[in-house]
Amino acid sequence: MKKMTSRELRDSYLEFFKSKGHAVIPSASLIPENDPSVLFTTAGMHPLVPYLLGQKHPAGKRLCDVQKCVRTGDIDEVGDATHCTFFEMLGNWSLGDYFREESIEFSFEFLTKVLEIPTEKIAVSVFAGDEDCERDEIAAKKWNELGIAKDKIFYLPKENNWWYAGPTGPCGSDTEIFIDTGKEPCGEDCSPACDCGKYVEIWNNVFMQFNRDKEGNFQPLAQKNVDTGMGLERTICMLNGYQSVYETDLFADVIAKISSLCGKEYGKGEEETRAMRIIADHMRTATFMIGDEKGIVPSNVDQGYVLRRLLRRSVRFARQLGMDSKELVTIAEMFIDKYCDIYTELADNRDKVLTEIAKEEEKFGKTLENGIKEIEKVLKFVQNGMLNGKTAFRLYDTYGFPIEMTQEICKEKGFGVDIEGYHNAFAEHQKKSQAGAEQKFKGGLADSGEQTTYLHTATHLMLAGLKKVLGRDDIEQKGSNITAERLRFDFNFERPLTEEEKKGVEKFVNDAIARDIPVVCEEMPIEKAREINAVGVFGSRYGEVVKVYTIGDVDCQICGGPHAERTGLLGEFKIVKEQSSSAGIRRIKAVIDTTKAK
Ligand code: ALA
Repeated sequence: MKKMTSRELRDSYLEFFKSKGHAVIPSASLIPENDPSVLFTTAGMHPLVPYLLGQKHPAGKRLCDVQKCVRTGDIDEVGDATHCTFFEMLGNWSLGDYFREESIEFSFEFLTKVLEIPTEKIAVSVFAGDEDCERDEIAAKKWNELGIAKDKIFYLPKENNWWYAGPTGPCGSDTEIFIDTGKEPCGEDCSPACDCGKYVEIWNNVFMQFNRDKEGNFQPLAQKNVDTGMGLERTICMLNGYQSVYETDLFADVIAKISSLCGKEYGKGEEETRAMRIIADHMRTATFMIGDEKGIVPSNVDQGYVLRRLLRRSVRFARQLGMDSKELVTIAEMFIDKYCDIYTELADNRDKVLTEIAKEEEKFGKTLENGIKEIEKVLKFVQNGMLNGKTAFRLYDTYGFPIEMTQEICKEKGFGVDIEGYHNAFAEHQKKSQAGAEQKFKGGLADSGEQTTYLHTATHLMLAGLKKVLGRDDIEQKGSNITAERLRFDFNFERPLTEEEKKGVEKFVNDAIARDIPVVCEEMPIEKAREINAVGVFGSRYGEVVKVYTIGDVDCQICGGPHAERTGLLGEFKIVKEQSSSAGIRRIKAVIDTTKAK
């Protein structure tokens, strides 16, 4: 196997797929735009959903990229050899171009020729077949022809070999690629489906040919796509024969720093090693979340809450190791330096990252020890092995302990937590619970239904209206979130809008709707889009060719779409709320009534 650094792997992956006719597209933000169903970008395919469903991508039918991703579903596994909450996914796509066989050929060639992985170290799984989709003999045959022995090809069910981005949307069977570490099989049934560690998954090729509808039926897609994802960290780890991703160039110096800051040897005690890895993992994720082009800050809801949990957990583990948790800022700084030439947004947001981490450390650091004392005191009197919900809520409310942290601390001491009681106590105190956040945690995909599409067009009209009515050309989009029910739009402005201004914006949008203007989409080089003064969306990075949506003389924006075909379809537009979002940022919630459409 070829020993490679992370940089070499990124470069050689993109080079390889470029040589196979793929256009390199930039990594999208970690915070999905206009996607109410998911908190973070969890795979390279997320930003591409509209194109997998059939929209034409301006860069063509073959794409590849390195996408920053966050997955917090496996947060309890972090600290083992391979699970990270942030990772980079190397991806290549065929949008209705090549399918199964060619995709497998590309993967095999890259693995064996470029990465020089011996064929006998590769194991694969293919879909075993069921009532929705046939057994994937095509993939199995292809692998076998390329030289993968039959006993290294495993047929597995939907549970293992089917990729869904969410409850509905594009999906399909996949073939997963593993490195056989050479460990003894754990038993007769040992396969990539067990987690004994013999097989480490590095790549997944999804053959997306279905769209799962609301009823759970699999409808054939208009085009057959390939969606692949290779884990950068794991692949580097395997190539270099490391025991864990923390030995790779992405982490090794950070781990050494943490070890010296706490004066403990990495790799010696199991618990201490795990704590050091958790700090490194979480601080990297937090750095990317705050430093993102659409960066977030710690809060009690949605993405901000996930970030808060990561930071507070890091503070706790740092203190447990005997490290000054103020030094977490130093760790973040190391990650900024390490990644900022590739992810330049980290350099742009350096001060913000360091300040936000310092602020959160300060806030939580003050109450952490008292909270832990409180837990220890209460647990002495616990009869049924469960910490009651009211106490768990008090720990949250008074000491800032995320419930997951209370659970984790109690678990370490052999106790459970009455979660239902906690939620009841929470609901009593605060109607606005995190239910929304947890709901969205389950994952999903961009909703491009009719209602959200029309609301998206309404945001374009509204932005133009805001500029006009407020007489300010510097107003720009600072965030957008659209559900089927309403749009939510953040923009820079320093004071509440007056009733008159709100009415003015409504009138502007409704006039544009009344004129029933066609919405025209054109593809053009980014320079041309700038030349014609197309508005860019805050924080986005564009490829060389972009889509520009023009609504008559009202608006012209660089945007991925989709949009209503004409403004008349929107019916009637109404602002339902205007409030502060954060310092200097206002937030508008608005609705449309399509029953009023003419
Ligand atoms: N979307 C596929 C995955 O994330 C490639 O595994």
